Amino acid sequence: MDLFAAYTDRPMVSVEIGGQPHVVPEGVTVLQAMWYSGIPVVKGAGCLGGVCGACTTTWRMPGDLTARSGLGCQIAVREGMSFTLYPVDAPQKPRYRMAELDDPAEALFSIYPETRRCTLCDSCTQVCPQGITVKSGVMRVMNKMFEPVAPMFDECVMCNMCSLVCEVGIAPNLLGLYARKAVARERPAPPELETVMRRVADGKWDAEWGALLEGSGEALAGRCRAVWERDASRD
Ligand code: SF4
Ligand code: SF4
Ligand code: FES
Repeated sequence: MDLFAAYTDRPMVSVEIGGQPHVVPEGVTVLQAMWYSGIPVVKGAGCLGGVCGACTTTWRMPGDLTARSGLGCQIAVREGMSFTLYPVDAPQKPRYRMAELDDPAEALFSIYPETRRCTLCDSCTQVCPQGITVKSGVMRVMNKMFEPVAPMFDECVMCNMCSLVCEVGIAPNLLGLYARKAVARERPAPPELETVMRRVADGKWDAEWGALLEGSGEALAGRCRAVWERDASRD
């Protein structure tokens, strides 16, 4: 199976991957360009659909002094682009159970005391690949305005870039999650979620899940190939 057969008609472009020159088909994603160049990417590749936040990447165009960041599975490569996959470790997560807090607004500063240190530098907004106005979300959380913050973070993919750049150790994405949990606990669960949770409890996917956990690397690769071929035949 040739994963790159679909790109054979494209023009080739010169890029730098981690400082090394490579020639790759124009318009493939950063991750595809790395695989095309024989660079194995394991940590840093997940859903390939812009959802899991694993493929954090920094990139730059010639003559542009500003390094940009984004999701490597979503960024199309262009002539002269230089890029590096930049896996970001998750921040430490305090343990709490939202359902057991007396008052989430009061508990916020005990669980996340660093929230008060925000300098409004805006780095978190600048770096967010999802275009979320992160600083604004943090400001509102500081003012205990959870209702407007919760939908702001609907598109957050938990890539952790905002926590990486925060100079005072805030993890804005975790604050966004806190706001979403605080709002959700006041509302009934969506019926679709309850249906799925019931199916999970009834063991509907136990066999499938077990096969994934116990399968050999070869077996898992075979399953991936089968899914890829099925999806490719639909295009
Ligand atoms: S809010 Fe933070 S974790 Fe979420 S997508 Fe933006 S940068 Fe990534
Ligand atoms: S990066 Fe940190 S200090 Fe700067 S605005 Fe965002 S949360 Fe505040
Ligand atoms: S691999 Fe999941 S967002 Fe890119």
